[in-house]
Amino acid sequence: MNRFWTRFISPILETTAPRRIMEVGADFGWNTRHLLAYCRQTGSRLHVVDPAPRPELTEVLAAYGEEYVYLPHKSLDAIPMAPPADVVLLDGDHNWHTVHSELHLLFAHAAKAAAPPPLVLMHDVAWPYARRDMYYDPESLGADQRHAYAYRGLEPGSSELIEGGMNSMLANASVEGGRKNGVLTGVEDFVSEIATPLKFHVLPFFNGLGILVPAERATPELDAVIASFTQPASLLQTVEALEEAHMRARVEVAQSHARLTRRTDALVRARQILIERAERISSLEAELAEVGRTRSLAEPAVK
Ligand SMILES: C[S@@+](CC[C@H](N)C(=O)[O-])C[C@H]1O[C@@H](n2cnc3c(N)ncnc32)[C@H](O)[C@@H]1O
Repeated sequence: MNRFWTRFISPILETTAPRRIMEVGADFGWNTRHLLAYCRQTGSRLHVVDPAPRPELTEVLAAYGEEYVYLPHKSLDAIPMAPPADVVLLDGDHNWHTVHSELHLLFAHAAKAAAPPPLVLMHDVAWPYARRDMYYDPESLGADQRHAYAYRGLEPGSSELIEGGMNSMLANASVEGGRKNGVLTGVEDFVSEIATPLKFHVLPFFNGLGILVPAERATPELDAVIASFTQPASLLQTVEALEEAHMRARVEVAQSHARLTRRTDALVRARQILIERAERISSLEAELAEVGRTRSLAEPAVK
């Protein structure tokens, strides 16, 4: 989600001027860092929600004080603990059950406090998790809240999981598509169920950014900012950013390949040395046996 900060999230915050922000899913704190800088500058407050962030988040938070509250809980427990937010960034557990429940809970929580529902920015509304669940903690969900899953990888265009695909260290739903599967499906189902008028926009790159704008938060300025994201000048910048990410990925692949080749060469050399030493040992053993045989022939028999 961090990749959306400069050209998409930051302009939305500047236009909507939220006083209370919630971030669900902080991980290393890459986006948290930006949000905290915004809060310091504007006097706003951030609730950071993550039950299992990386240790690096502590360093990010350490540079700030009253700008944030950290809630080390899962989103569905944490949302009622904080006051209703003006803007929520959803980037936690990427599955239908969690995202669909988070959205219902956020809107109900605001309604209970007679506050307008939040503007919600959510990640992973494009491939790979638009139409496929991923579970950080699959066994904590009920059997009816998750699909069959496996720790196997993903490949564009393949519904089945594959050996050696992307994100194979994560619990991915075994099949893509169908009912109640994936983040985008969760948002669409929520939008079709809720009475509140709202608009839902999708930027389908960098795994997808969803922008959910309730009518009560909509302004002509915000509409103009969101419309600018799909204008040619902005799209051209996006293409450049995607090209750079693609080139960086190719460099990483080339470097991994070079590392693998160096290790393979070293293994081949080590194997050759082992073979030569084994041959030398066999030859020494043969010599030794010959010496023993010659000596026993030369020695007079003892009577
Ligand atoms: C993809 S990372 C977030 C990346 C971060 N937003 C960024 O832009 O750098 C997802 C994070 O969500 C957290 N998470 C998983 N399940 C969660 C849940 N139910 N509620 C809140 N956070 C959750 C994980 O611990 C992980 O740190």
